[in-house]
Amino acid sequence: MGEGTLINLGQHKGEEEQGQGNRKGVFFLLSVSSLSSLSVCSQRLKDEIAEVTNEIDNLGITEERKSMQRNKQMAMGRKKFNMDPKKGIRFLIDSSLLKNTSNDIAQFLYKGEGLNKTAIGDYLGERDDFNIEVLHAFLELHEFTDLNLVQALRQFLWSFRLPGEAQKIDRMMEAFALRYCRCNPGVFQSTDTCYVLSFAVIMLNTSLHNPNVKDKPSVQRFTAMNRGINDGGDLPEELLRNLYDSIKNEPFKIPEDDGNDLTHTFFNPDREGWLLKLGGRVKTWKRRWFILTDNCLYYFEYTTDKEPRGIIPLENLSIREVDDSKKPNCFELFISDHKDQVIKACKTEADGRVVEGNHTFYRISAPTAEEKDEWINSIKAAISKDPFYEMLAARKKKVSSLKGL
Ligand SMILES: *[C@@H]1O[C@H](CO)[C@@H](O)[C@H](O)[C@H]1NC(C)=O
Ligand SMILES: *[C@@H]1O[C@H](CO)[C@@H](O)[C@H](O)[C@H]1NC(C)=O
Ligand SMILES: *[C@@H]1O[C@H](CO)[C@@H](O)[C@H](O)[C@H]1NC(C)=O
Ligand SMILES: *[C@@H]1O[C@H](CO)[C@@H](O)[C@H](O)[C@H]1NC(C)=O
Ligand SMILES: *[C@@H]1O[C@H](CO)[C@@H](O)[C@H](O)[C@H]1NC(C)=O
Repeated sequence: MGEGTLINLGQHKGEEEQGQGNRKGVFFLLSVSSLSSLSVCSQRLKDEIAEVTNEIDNLGITEERKSMQRNKQMAMGRKKFNMDPKKGIRFLIDSSLLKNTSNDIAQFLYKGEGLNKTAIGDYLGERDDFNIEVLHAFLELHEFTDLNLVQALRQFLWSFRLPGEAQKIDRMMEAFALRYCRCNPGVFQSTDTCYVLSFAVIMLNTSLHNPNVKDKPSVQRFTAMNRGINDGGDLPEELLRNLYDSIKNEPFKIPEDDGNDLTHTFFNPDREGWLLKLGGRVKTWKRRWFILTDNCLYYFEYTTDKEPRGIIPLENLSIREVDDSKKPNCFELFISDHKDQVIKACKTEADGRVVEGNHTFYRISAPTAEEKDEWINSIKAAISKDPFYEMLAARKKKVSSLKGL
């Protein structure tokens, strides 16, 4: 094609010279000789072009090969990451597939392509300063603006699997609460309020949807259990009702759900049931519905009651079996080193007033010896420094109006 063009060019030039006599022939000769030299030239050009094209083709092949190589390494990196997150990240950085910045790594984890969500959770939960930086960058990628707390938690809890370790959960939920409050200023008085309420809804999820939990709390009970957590004030009832309804209508989903929901991953199992409780002032036995949750014993007159009759925080309490002349299967909550000190607790009087309890010990009778043992074990587990309870209790104290408790 290149040659044809040259010939046409020559003819064209010849025509231009029409009517100029000899010069036409001269020109033609000239034209032919230049044509032949041109055609030599063009052959060289052609070869060169072919060579270059070949090189370009080769380049394409190497590019393709390189990209295949990269994909292969990427897949290997992901595989390594799923087995050992830190090693996987190091491999990807060393292979120049990932930049060693918290933002790039956070992006990689947020996209999560081919990554095991348990492994993502393990990496984000690490105590290392750099991992904490990545955790915060990861949260920056989550957009929570105008989402209610449950919607935001759904998104967050789906992006990785929370590890089981209390300190890790604490850091991650702290980062979540920070980001949520920044996206939604004015909803909560403090990050701690957001943190405490986040756990309350995760626990609500279990209460409402785990078939092992028989007593399903009502919205009123949920509201009552979250009194005073907004830096001493109450959260709007409508907000709490919306969160309650949202969870009730659709449980939280977590990745790698192994049947153990989050509550069972990081809390001692809750317990509930009928027990007899000996009065503080008037020594009569009353049948009460007890719920052990959140490191507190709540007791209700009826299972359907919205408000508890009393709350006994288990912090600093001890438990022991006791014999009682009137009732079988008894155990007692007491303060081990201050026998006569009144246990900090509160109860609701018949007229609705909330007053401090007046018990130096709580004596309780279980229906069977077996249930007595189960209650003692559960309460012991709750008392015995579950690190998670401790963390949550510390936050709750910070944001709660029940300052004395
Ligand atoms: C990435 O950078 C952090 C500090 O910014 C450093 O501690 C870490 O060793 C680096 N990781 C790799 C794989 O180079
Ligand atoms: C992710 O990793 C966990 C823990 O190593 C494992 O139990 C789970 O099966 C893995 N999930 C997938 C989808 O491979
Ligand atoms: C919510 O409850 C469902 C049903 O018990 C459970 O599968 C899921 O793991 C729970 N979610 C969380 C975040 O605990
Ligand atoms: C538990 O004991 C610690 C240390 O003695 C004390 O600071 C804390 O206030 C006690 N908590 C309660 C609820 O009495
Ligand atoms: C608590 O009980 C003691 C006697 O056991 C009594 O002297 C005291 O007044 C009671 N306090 C309250 C607040 O009821």
